[in-house]
Amino acid sequence: MSSISKEFKRITTHSLAEMKERGEKISMLTAYDFSMARIIDGGGIDVILVGDSASNVMAGHETTLPITLDQMIYHASSVVRGVQRALVVVDLPFGSYQGNSKEALVSTIRIMKESGAHAIKMEGGEEILESIRRILTAGVPVMGHLGLTPQSIYKFGTYAVRATEDWEAEKLLQDSKLLEEAGCFALVLEKIPSDLAKKVAENLQIPVIGIGAGRHVDGQVLVSHDMLGINTEFKPRFLRKYADLHGVMTDAVHHFVQDVKARDFPNEKEQY
Ligand code: KIV
Repeated sequence: MSSISKEFKRITTHSLAEMKERGEKISMLTAYDFSMARIIDGGGIDVILVGDSASNVMAGHETTLPITLDQMIYHASSVVRGVQRALVVVDLPFGSYQGNSKEALVSTIRIMKESGAHAIKMEGGEEILESIRRILTAGVPVMGHLGLTPQSIYKFGTYAVRATEDWEAEKLLQDSKLLEEAGCFALVLEKIPSDLAKKVAENLQIPVIGIGAGRHVDGQVLVSHDMLGINTEFKPRFLRKYADLHGVMTDAVHHFVQDVKARDFPNEKEQY
């Protein structure tokens, strides 16, 4: 498959709004480093999320809670250097914005200044509205995130589907409207029933991007290491695997080990 041509227009928050308006679905994947970002951007993705899932995927933690602001900035700046077309959105990590709106703004400014990213994402509804408004006054676009919000995993106790009960679905509908009214440019919905996600997408003018939220939203996001089959342990129903890179990479490593042991590598042509 060929890479996209250099004749491209950079994706902006406005491009995403236009895509929703004309019914074009939005594609979003995570990346945490330069090389992966370059491949994903070259593949034509619209949005690259430097997710705090880096805590799981890159660092091997069980949850997203341990990753720090400094670590997110390191990942984000690496990604930005690999991207020419996609909009780069960075998660504000746990503990960098929940204290108060000033803390949220200071963390956001560090991300924007030190990484060169284009927008930030925050988990939560009504409780973070003040922070969202304050960040927006500094001219930084904010993406919301509702449904399963992994930074609150110890409150939920499980990674099961959210908002299956009426009260929670109602709260999610209200929160989504509040986030739009506060000025978020897009909203991620994670692991909620498809009918509810459809309702939210129909209710809002801003694009709604789903992960495990069914097909009736305005776009889809997956964790790249999951959809590329690098991570083999995570098998939720919503995940479609587009490659078996774990298999490909393991075979390559086995082959290298064999060649070294057999004194086949390097050969005459592979040395100086
Ligand atoms: O951190 C992340 O990768 C995310 C996606 C799952 C949306 O927030």
